Parts: sequence; structure tokens; C-alpha cells
Amino acid sequence: MRYHRLGQLPRKRHTQFRENGRLFVEEVMGLEGFSGNESILYHLTSPCRIAEAGEFEPIQHREWVPDAHVHRHLITGGIAPEGDPITGRRCLMWNNDLEVSIVEPESESEAFYRNGEGDELIFVHEGSGELETIFGTVPYRQHDYIVVPRGTTYRFRFDGEEQLWLILHTPGEIESPNRYRNRYGQLLESAPFSHRDVHPPTELVTHRESTEAEVFVRVRGGLQHYRLDYHPLDVVGWDGYVYPYTFNIHDFEPRTGRIHLPPPVHQTFQGPNFVVCSFCPRELDYDPEAVPLPYHHSNLQSEEMIYYVSGDFGSRKGIEVGSITVHPSGLPHGPQPGLVEKALGARRTEELAVMWDTFNPMRLSEFARELDEPSYAYSWREGTPSPVAESTTG
Ligand SMILES: [Fe+2]
Repeated sequence: MRYHRLGQLPRKRHTQFRENGRLFVEEVMGLEGFSGNESILYHLTSPCRIAEAGEFEPIQHREWVPDAHVHRHLITGGIAPEGDPITGRRCLMWNNDLEVSIVEPESESEAFYRNGEGDELIFVHEGSGELETIFGTVPYRQHDYIVVPRGTTYRFRFDGEEQLWLILHTPGEIESPNRYRNRYGQLLESAPFSHRDVHPPTELVTHRESTEAEVFVRVRGGLQHYRLDYHPLDVVGWDGYVYPYTFNIHDFEPRTGRIHLPPPVHQTFQGPNFVVCSFCPRELDYDPEAVPLPYHHSNLQSEEMIYYVSGDFGSRKGIEVGSITVHPSGLPHGPQPGLVEKALGARRTEELAVMWDTFNPMRLSEFARELDEPSYAYSWREGTPSPVAESTTG
């Protein structure tokens, strides 16, 4: 992340900064104490001010412990819209490093939201609109990743069409992979995306009107409800390295080799004990003898989850838009019988998918049980038609 600024700022930090004689309230929002990245914001009103502390609602995950440890296929395509961007988060799986939810909101929320205990990575499968945030307006469109650092008060405003998002929450930080950055933090010439592909807030809107507002803050595994007697988006200026941004998956430049390259070439983000990869439409491996599908692999310490976004899954019966394959740790996985022969000579794939690999096991939710398609575990049986087949991705 690079330095960015919007709005008015005093020449020096921690100095008097006034409007019509009134001091602005300076807030340093930083990580790792005072050692990590930070931004400095100037508010009209102290961000500590609340009119009323309302109820605290624990976020309760209902776990599904399957009877058998097998590969799984979750079909999310048919879920019905529910709730709003805050209440409509339906958790699919989680561990101590990551929580993955799907959201198909019925409506916007008038209330604001702030994640006080984690960063969020929101993949926009369907929809467009704006995030109104304390750092300014973040326009988003289909197939954007929206990265929202903890501490960012925001709310969604929709463009009106259908919205469907995958949300990853981590108590760690969502970052670009270390190996893509030089020692100063700049993305390397060899990285599969550049700083130009990263889109910070475009416009700072300072709300001065007197109003009431509701804010839900995620803390301590629940949502704390506050009522405010002012508008929380009251920032007149900010600068620093911490702010929300978008990165569109189609700006990821896929890597292709003479022979098959492993999934790390698709890595887009890193977090504590997990990675996020983007499988984008691309040319396939070009050696005449190349096998353009992944080899069977036993990545024994990783769990691999792939969410299929769009593209031609024609050679993969059963995998559809919104499918999630779950390949848990400790088991080998690879293409189903017949698929390798079928793929030989293929030069291109149009598929679009998002993968999260975790180094610690994921726990599945009761909601995931409702989406589970149990025949997937048997789709590698020789001599029987494969009900489901793997993609060219992971
Ligand atoms: Fe894999």
C-alpha cells in the first residue's frame, strides 16, 4: 500500500488545525501499536463520542462436523437473498485465521458498520455501487476485491442491481504478497499487478449535517450497537498508508508457462496462515507435451477452497457458478478420470475463480451443510461417469 491523502491537512501533524476557530479532532489510526502502517484523520467530532451504547449481539457460528473427512462441493448458486450488508453475512467456514461468508443482501443498511477486530476482503461477484467510508467514497464494480482495513466505518450504497459478495474476515492483515514487493514496499516490476491497479477512495465527503446514526462495531466476536448524535463520516482530511481500496480481478495478469505452473503464481493476497489466489481467463501451458491441468497433489498441510465465479465450466459437469469445492488437508486431489486426456491440447481457459488456501483446518458451518452435494467425494471412481469434475484451477 502506498501513501495517499484526501481533503485538507495541516502542514505538520499534531499541530493546531482549525476551522472558524474550532479545532479539528486528530485521530491516528494505526496497526501494531505505533510501529505498523497508519493514517491520520481529522474529524469534526471526537470519534469516541456516542449517544447511547445499545445491545451486544454475539456472532454465533453453528458448526457442522461431518461424519466423514472427504472432498466436498458446496452449491451456493441457489441461495435466496437475505438481510443487509451487516445482517446478511452467512458464514460458510472458519478457523482462527479466517472466516468466509457469503452475502446476497435484500437491501442496503442505513446503519454504518465497522470491523474492530479484523480486516475484510470482499469479492464482488455481482453488483456495483459505492462504499461510503470515513476515508471517502470507494466505487466498486463487478469482480472487484474490496479491501477494508479494520477500523474503517463504512456502509454500502448499491447501484440498484443484484448484489452478491464473498467476504473473508481475518484477525490479521490482508496484504499483497511479500514476494511481490521490494524492500521499500513498492510492487515489483515482476509482480502480476501494479499500483495503478489499486484504487483508493476517490472523493472525501465530509458530513456536517446534524443527524442521528447507528453504528454496528464488530468486537470480541460480536456486534456492539451504538447510537450517535452526529454523522460518523465527518472527516475533513486524512493521509497515510491505511485506507480501503479496490482491485479488480481482471487486472491480475495471469502467468502461463511452457509446462504447468503451481497455484502460487495465482496468489493475489496474503494473510496469517492463508493465501488468496485469482484464477483468471488465460492461455494454458504451451509445450506440445504439456498437461494443462493440475497434477494430483497432496498439499498435506493446506486446505484448498475454490469459489467458481464465471467462465466455461463445460468440461466440468456439476461445477457451476457459485460452486465451492473444499479439498481438505491430509488428502490428495486432482482431476477426475478422463479429464486429463480431454484437456490435452487445450490452449485457453475462460474460467474465473477465487481460491483461499489455509494452513490450518477450516470448520464448516450448518449453512455449509445445507449446500453440500455429497456425491463429489465419489467423483474420482474409475469407470463411472463423473458427476462432478475439477477445474483447471487448484
Ligand atoms: Fe489443488
